[in-house]
Amino acid sequence: MEIKKIGVIGAGLMGAGIAQVAAQSGFEVTLMDVETRFLDKGISTIEKNLKRMVEKGKLDAAQADAIRARIKGTLSIVDVANGADVTIEAVIEKMDLKKKVYKELDQLAQGSTIFATNTSGLSITEMAAITARPEKFIGMHFFNPVPVMKLVEVIRGIATSDETVAVIKDLSVKLGKTPIEVQEAPGFVVNRILVPMIIEAIFVLQEGLATAAEIDEGMKLGANHPMGPLALADLVGLDTLLNVQQHLYEEFGDPKYRPPVLLKKMVRAGRLGRKSGKGFYDYGS
Ligand code: CAA
Ligand code: NAD
Repeated sequence: MEIKKIGVIGAGLMGAGIAQVAAQSGFEVTLMDVETRFLDKGISTIEKNLKRMVEKGKLDAAQADAIRARIKGTLSIVDVANGADVTIEAVIEKMDLKKKVYKELDQLAQGSTIFATNTSGLSITEMAAITARPEKFIGMHFFNPVPVMKLVEVIRGIATSDETVAVIKDLSVKLGKTPIEVQEAPGFVVNRILVPMIIEAIFVLQEGLATAAEIDEGMKLGANHPMGPLALADLVGLDTLLNVQQHLYEEFGDPKYRPPVLLKKMVRAGRLGRKSGKGFYDYGS
C-alpha cells in the first residue's frame, strides 16, 4: 500500500510535530483542529521550526516553503478524511473524546484508510471497536518533541492485521523514526516505565525533599538524563501526564500508580507546563 496523503487530527504539541515531520518526509498533510486559534498555534509552531532549520542551514528557504505548502490546515473532519491513506489522531488523552472522533471519522473515510492513534497509553482495542475497521486500527505513538525524538511505538489492538502493522512500521521509517512493536497494555512500554519516574519526582517535590531545580539537577547530573523529570513534566503537559497516570492507576488498580495531589492541584489551576506558560517552572506568556 502506497501512502501519499496523511490526515492529522489535533494540532496541539504532538499533532503539529507529526504534521511537520510528515510534510518534511514528502507526504501531503491535512492538519485539523476544532478552533482557529488552536490550528493557528500549531501551524505557527511548524513555521517557527522550519524557520529555525533554515537559519541553521539544515534546509534552504525553497525547501522550507515546499514543506509548508504540503500542509493544509482545516477545521473540518471531512477534509481530513478526504483521500487520506492514513489518519494520525492526536487529540486530548480522553477515551470518550477519541471514540467520538473515530465514530465520525469511520463514516467519512474511505474503507482502505488506516486509523493510527497517538494515544499515550489508552486501549487501541477499545477505540477500534467503535469502528467498522478494527483490523485497520493501530497505535502509532510518537514522542515529544516529535521532530527530535526517534522512537515510534507501534501498538497492536486485538484485531490489528499484520498488514496494518507492516504499513505503519514502514511509514515510521519513512518519517525518519525507529519503530518498536508493542503489545497493547496500559501505558505500552515507554510510558509504563517513564511516567511513574516523573510522577515519583512530583512526590519528592510534594514531600519537600528538595526544590524543583535541585530535583532536576540531581537527575541530570546523577542519572545523565537530558532534562530533569519536572522540566520533562512541563514539556509533556501536566494535564496529559495526569491523564496517563490516572489511566495506569485505574487499569492496574495498584496504589503505586496513584497521582500526587500536587499534580491534580496544578492541573486544576490551569498550570499545565510549557503550553500554558506555567508549570513547575515559569515560561512567561
Ligand atoms: N521542536 C523541534 N525541535 C526541537 C524542539 C522542539 N520542541 N526542542 C528542541 N529541538 C531541537 C533543537 O532545534 C536542536 O536541534 P539541532 O540539534 O538541529 O540544533 C535540538 O533539538 C536540541 O535542542 P536544544 O539544544 O535546544 O536543547 P537540548 O539539547 O537540551 O534538547 C530536548 C532538548 C531534545 C527536548 C532534550 O532535552 C530531550 O531529549 N529531553 C527529553 C525528551 C523526552 O524524554 N521526551 C519524551 C517525553 S514522554 C513522551 O513523549 C510520551 C508520552 O506519551 C507522554
Ligand atoms: P495538546 O493538548 O497539546 O493538543 C491536543 C489538541 O487536540 C488541542 O489542540 C485540541 O484543541 C485538539 N482537539 C480537541 N478535540 C478535538 C477534536 N474533536 N478534533 C480535533 N482536534 C481536537 O495535547 P498533545 O500533548 O498534543 O497530546 C495529544 C495526544 O498525543 C494525546 O493522546 C497524548 O496523550 C498523546 N501524546 C502526548 C505526548 C506529550 O508529550 N504531550 C507524547 C506522546 C503522545
